[in-house]
Amino acid sequence: MLVLGIESSCDETGLALYDTEAGLLSHALHSQIAMHREYGGVVPELASRDHIRRALPLAEEVLAQAGKPLSAVDAIAYTQGPGLAGALLVGASVANALAFALDRPVVGVHHLEGHLLSPLLAPDAPDFPFVALLVSGGHTQLMEVRAFGQYAMLGETLDDAAGEAFDKTAKLLGLGYPGGPAVSRLADFGTPGRYDLPRPMKHSGNLDFSFSGLKTAVLTQVRNLGGNVCEQEKADLARGFVDAIVDVLVAKSMAALKQTGMKTLVVAGGVGANAQLRAGLNEAARRRGYRVHYPDLAFCTDNGAMIAFAGAMRLKHWPDEADSEYAYTVRPRWDLADIVRSV
Ligand code: KG4
Ligand code: ZN
Repeated sequence: MLVLGIESSCDETGLALYDTEAGLLSHALHSQIAMHREYGGVVPELASRDHIRRALPLAEEVLAQAGKPLSAVDAIAYTQGPGLAGALLVGASVANALAFALDRPVVGVHHLEGHLLSPLLAPDAPDFPFVALLVSGGHTQLMEVRAFGQYAMLGETLDDAAGEAFDKTAKLLGLGYPGGPAVSRLADFGTPGRYDLPRPMKHSGNLDFSFSGLKTAVLTQVRNLGGNVCEQEKADLARGFVDAIVDVLVAKSMAALKQTGMKTLVVAGGVGANAQLRAGLNEAARRRGYRVHYPDLAFCTDNGAMIAFAGAMRLKHWPDEADSEYAYTVRPRWDLADIVRSV
């Protein structure tokens, strides 16, 4: 079964072709980061308009890359939510229009299921069950993944997501948008321990997170410095921030593995690209005899491949999810618990 996947939940238009026999055939992405940069964040209306411009050319690109005609597509998967309503509507409209024209089924995919399953696109994909640490701009969650469609929430952030904390800290340090990679690079030049920032909820006894206090701690330090922060102090603050957030994410991930008795951790979402987090997780897991899997860097952040893959798996396991009515809806707010299926 050849599935065309469409991701358009935020500021990336991602298209991909996934074949249930041959695997991922092609993928293409347009990131709107440069367009939103001057506003310091994603402008929803601009995002929707750009998805409209990019979706069909990218669809043509992935078909050409794979050497397949549009008529070879057996089903279309699109991100149905959560995300920006207007942005989601573009992907949903394109998916349903193509499916209607081709007389093929469509399936709406939960964006976070896409992220959760993205490590399975790799040739050395882990086996079920595993614990997934989902760390993106909008989400920070620890999930127990027993099988396709079998997900249980172990813990989540009570306020800011990890990526959001990175982005807000970057803004405080004057590093631009999106801030994750910039904070991470700067932290490498910082002095460890120069700023010992709080580790919120590290010892809370559960698997929930809270990051807004950490961002406030950075703000307080910036204010204490009179708002006039030199380059070395910026690097030291970035280092303090990264060490604190990585410490909490590593501690909770290890606690989740211990609590569930599982041996494998899968890391997904944009912050999963972070080098310091990867180093911290790898070291902690090695000491305890756990394995850690990461998606390819290209599949850590938003992409169409994870949506094509999750859609293909849904249709393979639950053909009843195929929709041929084309009366689509989007779900800007959508609890992952709603898509749990028994196997
Ligand atoms: O998964 P993603 O592409 O989009 C969402 O679904 O949110 O994640 C984007 C987030 C942004 O907050 C970005 O700053 C963060 O991931 N990010 C990073 C790194 N690369 C991306 N954070 C820290 N270190 C990185 N290397
Ligand atoms: Zn995402």
